[in-house]
Amino acid sequence: MGFNGPIRMKKAEQIFTTFEEYDYGDPTFRRIYLGRFVGESSRRILNDYTLKKRDCINTTSMDSELALLTANLTLAGPNKIFYDPFVGTGSFPIACSHFGARTMGSDIDGRMVRGKNGKDIRTSFKQYGLLSKYIDGFVSDLTHSPLRRGRWLDGIIGDPPYGVREGLKVLGTKDGSGKEAVFINGEAAHLQDKYIPPKKAYSFEAMLDDLLEFAAQMLVDDGRLSLWMPTANDENVELAIPGHPALELISICVQTFNKCMFALCPAVFRILNLRCFTYRVAKASDLPTTE
Ligand SMILES: C[S@@+](CC[C@H](N)C(=O)[O-])C[C@H]1O[C@@H](n2cnc3c(N)ncnc32)[C@H](O)[C@@H]1O
Repeated sequence: MGFNGPIRMKKAEQIFTTFEEYDYGDPTFRRIYLGRFVGESSRRILNDYTLKKRDCINTTSMDSELALLTANLTLAGPNKIFYDPFVGTGSFPIACSHFGARTMGSDIDGRMVRGKNGKDIRTSFKQYGLLSKYIDGFVSDLTHSPLRRGRWLDGIIGDPPYGVREGLKVLGTKDGSGKEAVFINGEAAHLQDKYIPPKKAYSFEAMLDDLLEFAAQMLVDDGRLSLWMPTANDENVELAIPGHPALELISICVQTFNKCMFALCPAVFRILNLRCFTYRVAKASDLPTTE
């Protein structure tokens, strides 16, 4: 092959490796490939990031393997800023920071961001030695996001509330009217610690539209959005693939749960069949102008 250098078993400049090929489920050997070693699988990190060993989780924490593969699909990497608008316990930002991205997250539920019993998202980032990659978390409703509009995020990633366990809510009042300011000890209640703003029910489809529109406004050229959602709604009607004129769907990843699980718990089966949609935003120059 024209490599004339000495063979060094330690600290070699080039490593060669072999791959054996078998048909799936058939132990009959088919062929062997010899190639230059360029990189190895990261499967061993699954053991490090498993939720079983994570310091701060709750019932909606995203499975660590799915979070890591989503971070990969969304092209998380060094010198990029990634944001999760439904951050919960931070599974996606942690996964994105593992690949080198700087991350931040927000959640409508202040308890997620403030943490509980001295444990919060930072606790998990510290556990993995990734704290320097965590920009911060803040309390916010995606439909009233305080983030400056402009194309400065490299990736958006998250799983919006599915509504079944969490009952989808956004800031606002049922009838859309404003509320009179309440004062406690002479200070406006909404400026005091532990204030809980009024919320109203919202539809999952409307939330998806808002998320895609937000991504179209915020992602840099070729930036990506990945979102996980159930395959069907509470009535078992398959949910349509969300779409936006500025976003090109580039992959659909399905996570199905097996029949044993369905037999054990048919009620949650629908909820647990999830799909991840990954989109690439169009370049600003390719978007139609409004003039
Ligand atoms: C499925 S959980 C996300 C779990 C998260 N990926 C994790 O690993 O912990 C959805 C989150 O969205 C939050 N949420 C619900 N409505 C929201 C809204 N309007 N804006 C922002 N976050 C919201 C919920 O409080 C919840 O923490």
